[in-house]
Amino acid sequence: MADVTTKIEPPPKFIENISGADKENAQPLQTTDEQRKEEKDDVKNDGDDIKLNIGEQYMVKRSDDTWQAAEIIQRRYNDVVLQDEYYVHYDGLNRRLDEWVTKERIDLSELYQRGDKSGHDLLNDQTAGRKITRNQKRKHDEINHVQKTYADMDPTTAALEKEHEAITKIKYIDRVQIGRFEIDTWYFSPYPEEYGKVPKLYICQYCLKYMRLEKTYRYHLSECIWRQPPGRDIYRKGTLSIYEVDGADHKIYCQNLCLLAKLFLDHKTLYFDVEPFLFYILCEIDKQGAHLVGYFSKEKESPDMNNVACIMTLPPFQRKGYGKLLIAFSYELSKMECVVGSPEKPLSDLGKLSYRSYWTWVLLEILRDFKGTLSIRDLSQMTSITQQDIISTLQSINLVKYWKGQHVICVTPKLIEEYISSSQFKRPRLTVDPTLLRWAPPKRQQSQKKK
Ligand code: ACO
Ligand code: ZN
Repeated sequence: MADVTTKIEPPPKFIENISGADKENAQPLQTTDEQRKEEKDDVKNDGDDIKLNIGEQYMVKRSDDTWQAAEIIQRRYNDVVLQDEYYVHYDGLNRRLDEWVTKERIDLSELYQRGDKSGHDLLNDQTAGRKITRNQKRKHDEINHVQKTYADMDPTTAALEKEHEAITKIKYIDRVQIGRFEIDTWYFSPYPEEYGKVPKLYICQYCLKYMRLEKTYRYHLSECIWRQPPGRDIYRKGTLSIYEVDGADHKIYCQNLCLLAKLFLDHKTLYFDVEPFLFYILCEIDKQGAHLVGYFSKEKESPDMNNVACIMTLPPFQRKGYGKLLIAFSYELSKMECVVGSPEKPLSDLGKLSYRSYWTWVLLEILRDFKGTLSIRDLSQMTSITQQDIISTLQSINLVKYWKGQHVICVTPKLIEEYISSSQFKRPRLTVDPTLLRWAPPKRQQSQKKK
């Protein structure tokens, strides 16, 4: 955790909750098409007969038309476009952005050396005529989903990460059809062999059964009698419902949910051993039925005090507030259980943004309205957020300082008002109404009680 002995100052502009405008203004690491053209005007890209080798690096044009160094990971013949396609990983970017590209998008004029232009030495990057602070770099990395390199990790994490990458290197399932959506997938998921290598998988939006063929899927839709998740509807507000599903009672459904979720989650190891978990399924309700929007899973007994194992919003529903609604819901459950909780680590880039945004909102609302003094421990008991998560959140907006061996909250009403009225502070679009929750906590071990 960062040492915070520095003087408390008003929150800087590049605070954790970056506004939409700031996100758009974040400096891209890639070179633009025009810059690239200037650099390479005299070189022709006519490598029709060349087969590229796995492991080689080239500059590759991304779908947003920027050029980025990338490594070739796999080759396949696409019999629709009648040519080879290459699966590439963009240097330093999240693996979600890995994709199949044809040779037109690869600059064949030269092999590219790792680290040359990927722009990662941002701290020393003087080329743009500006010095970038560590905080700005962290912010930039979070927003642009920059992946840590092995060198940034401790040896055990690096070894585990390498193994994980080797197993999950290539995502074969490009798309899934679920309900009215056809969704591009982000990561590998361990569907059984005969399903795991088709470009498109068909999934029943109600029972989550997966199918390879459209005609089987159509037939299934005419036969399937499910219209909502199994388990119990424990929360209903307007057209939204949350169901609690026990992994031990509905094993196949939960396994299917985990396989589907893995297509959008990089680090996740739970697929088949679902019995020790509860699943909270968020659905939009209409006349047809309860349509899956997202979910989180939660260990029935968590020695690490995790109140969320995995959380996911299906891409068509993302950025509408459902993620923070699920996060808020997970803390409402913890409050009713009288425990503090934290999401399982590591958090993904999007997980970090969502949690940080939720924590900041909850804490600032309390600090603004509370008359008197509050300790970090008080805040933790009121919110069920762990003291560690509270400290890191307040540190990120310079509202805590380390004094005589303790973290002390340092706020003035003016400071809080300034922050809350800034565009960087985001009130959630959707909130949980605890009075609508029909749920009683299970019996817990004493060790998990609030400290
Ligand atoms: N780029 C930048 N910011 C984003 C993006 C994005 N693509 N997506 C969400 N955000 C920000 C939102 O702007 C919002 O912040 P703000 O309110 O301060 O502006 C915040 O993240 C949350 O947005 P929501 O709409 O409430 O959340 P969403 O429904 O999009 O779900 C989630 C967030 C669950 C993390 C989703 O992105 C997801 O499913 N990602 C893939 C799976 C994943 O990474 N899960 C977390 C893993 S960690 C764990 O499981 C414990
Ligand atoms: Zn079905």
